[in-house]
Parts: sequence; C-alpha cells; structure tokens
Amino acid sequence: MNQTVLMECRRLRKTYRSGDEVLDVLKGLDLTVAPGEFVAITGESGSGKSTLMHLLGCLDEPSEGDVLFESRSLKSLTERERDRVRNERFGFVFQFHHLLAEFNALENAALPGLIGGLSRKDAWERSERLLTDLRLKDRLHHRPGKLSGGEQQRVAVARAMVNNPAVLLMDEPTGNLDAANSHELISLVREQQKKYNLTVILVTHDTHIAKTADRQLVLEAGMLAPV
Ligand SMILES: Nc1ncnc2c1ncn2[C@@H]1O[C@H](COP(=O)(O)OP(=O)(O)O)[C@@H](O)[C@H]1O
Ligand SMILES: [Mg+2]
Repeated sequence: MNQTVLMECRRLRKTYRSGDEVLDVLKGLDLTVAPGEFVAITGESGSGKSTLMHLLGCLDEPSEGDVLFESRSLKSLTERERDRVRNERFGFVFQFHHLLAEFNALENAALPGLIGGLSRKDAWERSERLLTDLRLKDRLHHRPGKLSGGEQQRVAVARAMVNNPAVLLMDEPTGNLDAANSHELISLVREQQKKYNLTVILVTHDTHIAKTADRQLVLEAGMLAPV
C-alpha cells in the first residue's frame, strides 16, 4: 500500500441527466489526499462540492474516472466490500446533524458502533470517550432537543468517529452555526485528527475556517485548484 496517499480521485467525472438536460458537474478532476491530512474544499453554491463528497464517500458512483482508497479502486469492490469501507473506514458529518430525537447523546454516538459490530461495552466506552473529548461530558444523557446547535454537531462528530474511521468527510458541518461555535467545532475536530491521525476532508463556505486547514482547494468549473 502506498503510505503517502490515502485517497485519490483520478479523472473524476460526474454528469447528471434529466430528460434532454445534461449537467457536467465534475469534469475530470484529480485529487490526492495524504494520511492524516486536513484538506478544506471551498466553492460556490452549486459548484459540485456535495457531489464530490458523495463520490469520495461511496455514496454515489462516478460517471467516469475513479476514486481510490488505500490504493484500491472503489469501483473494483463488490457491493458488500463497498458497504464495509463506507461504514467502517469513513465517517460523515453533514450540515444537518440527523441525530435521533428519542436517543440521548451517548446513545446517538454509540449507535453506528453497535450496528458496526463493536461490543456494547466498547461502543459505549468509545462514545463516552469521544463525547468527553468533544467537551460534552456533562451532556451525555441529554437528548438532541436539549442541546445547542454547536453541541448537536459535536455529537454528530462523535457518532462519525465511533467506528474509528480513517477519513472524516464533512460537508458544511458549520453551515448552521455562528462563528464562535464554528471555530470551536473545527478546533475540536483538529484535536481528534491529531490524536487519531485522522484524515479530514472538509467542505465549507467559511473562508476563515478553510484557512485553518493544512491545504485549501477550490472547486470551480468542475475542477479542483489550489487556493
Ligand atoms: N441527483 C442530482 N440530479 C441532478 N442534478 C443534481 C443532483 N445532485 C446535484 N445536482 C446538481 O449538480 C450541481 C452541483 O450540486 P452540489 O454537488 O449539491 O453542489 P454544492 O454542494 O457545491 O452546492 C447543482 O447544479 C445541482 O443542482
Ligand atoms: Mg452542498
């Protein structure tokens, strides 16, 4: 395995068709991400950032080109192998937290661990450790409705990390937060990234946050360019 590259896009294309309309969103872009790197991607609304994140996360398939993870082409995997990579190696955080209202923070964060095959004890311990590191130790038994927006997103980060993923894919995670909460969330993710040598790919509108990344890219006209 190539130790200097964790994820790679090769000549990645995505075209949406509806009726006679053809929309070329990604036009053959290349990207390499090193293990432990924190990459920020900016770009105007509609430029294809979420489309790219879906392809990176195996949530959708490219029209042409390929995504490689740990030197393996995602296309070459069976459906079952792809599901495993998605569930065990990738963590996702979106703009909306999608926490389950009937479960408390500890349960919400532990759930993917229980589904993913961790023992109850390990899922619970890992959930508690992550929530504690994310400064939610005194919120473990609160349901999402009793948490602030910033706290909800921190629970979503804990949930994304409970299976100890290699990559955290974050699509506008601070889109609903004020500046102070945005910066707190990203600096806490940074701490976790260093602690676990996690790779982070962050899509954001917020140029202040993008600037804190190891590397900044902009998605424009279907291609990625350095900022
Ligand atoms: N499933 C889809 N079918 C058709 N068009 C889509 C689909 N998903 C996204 N698009 C279009 O592709 C473009 C890029 O969308 P998106 O990746 O969501 O952009 P961003 O996240 O940068 O705002 C937009 O014009 C959007 O309307
Ligand atoms: Mg988007």
